[in-house]
Amino acid sequence: KRLILIGPPGSGKGTQSPMIKDDYCLCHLATGDMLRAAVAAKTPLGIKAKEAMDKGELVSDDLVVGIIDEAMKKPSCQKGFILDGFPRTVVQAQKLDEMLGKQGTKIDKVLNFAIDDSILEERITGRWIHPSSGRTYHTKFAPPKVPGLDDVTGEPLIQRKDDTPAVLKSRLEAFHRQTEPVIDYYGSKGILANLPAEKPPKEVTSEVQKVLSS
Ligand code: AP5
Ligand code: ZN
Repeated sequence: KRLILIGPPGSGKGTQSPMIKDDYCLCHLATGDMLRAAVAAKTPLGIKAKEAMDKGELVSDDLVVGIIDEAMKKPSCQKGFILDGFPRTVVQAQKLDEMLGKQGTKIDKVLNFAIDDSILEERITGRWIHPSSGRTYHTKFAPPKVPGLDDVTGEPLIQRKDDTPAVLKSRLEAFHRQTEPVIDYYGSKGILANLPAEKPPKEVTSEVQKVLSS
């Protein structure tokens, strides 16, 4: 399957991705994770992306479209993929359609993580991540076995630089202004599925499974 996960910051896209990936043997392409890796490695791409990311604004369409175009060529992505955090503008969605059109494929389903803004600050400020694996924890909702350490490797967890209440505010503004139109774009194509993303993680997972098996 070729899937898109769309939703505001903290809505659970990264949390649900491993489950979907394992169940359907898909590759998980998260533009945010790829950009953070580029920033950490100080690559030319990372240097260009850093300023916008720190402010909670979107990186330019050309940069992210380039990353996705490159990533989708990987052999492991040929049978299907999960796009997490892409497309986030209508221009990105149109470019994606063009790229897939050239391959003779298309998106099967867009999972919309619908949730009220008021829930997101607590989720974002309590989040801890293990950068190399992408595993995500939460001090209250998904605590690691040992505080501050990854369950699998025992390596230290970190907080994202953009996970502050002030930066969250601009990320949410960007979501409403630039990404909500993308939800309508897929709604009009008839491939949109709305998920109740405010529910506990396991319940969201079973909703995802329901949508994908139908
Ligand atoms: P990105 O990394 O994509 O961030 P985001 O969209 O803001 O989304 P998050 O990763 O914050 O949220 P999530 O839905 O994955 O939440 P999670 O599952 O971790 O993008 C970062 C930046 O990169 C952007 O601001 C932009 O600058 C740039 N960028 C990326 N893509 C771009 C693009 N296409 N175009 C332009 N710029 C781009 O969950 C959050 C927390 O809540 C966790 O602690 C988790 O444990 C907890 N949690 C999850 N689900 C539940 C639940 N059901 N109940 C209780 N707690 C839960
Ligand atoms: Zn994420």
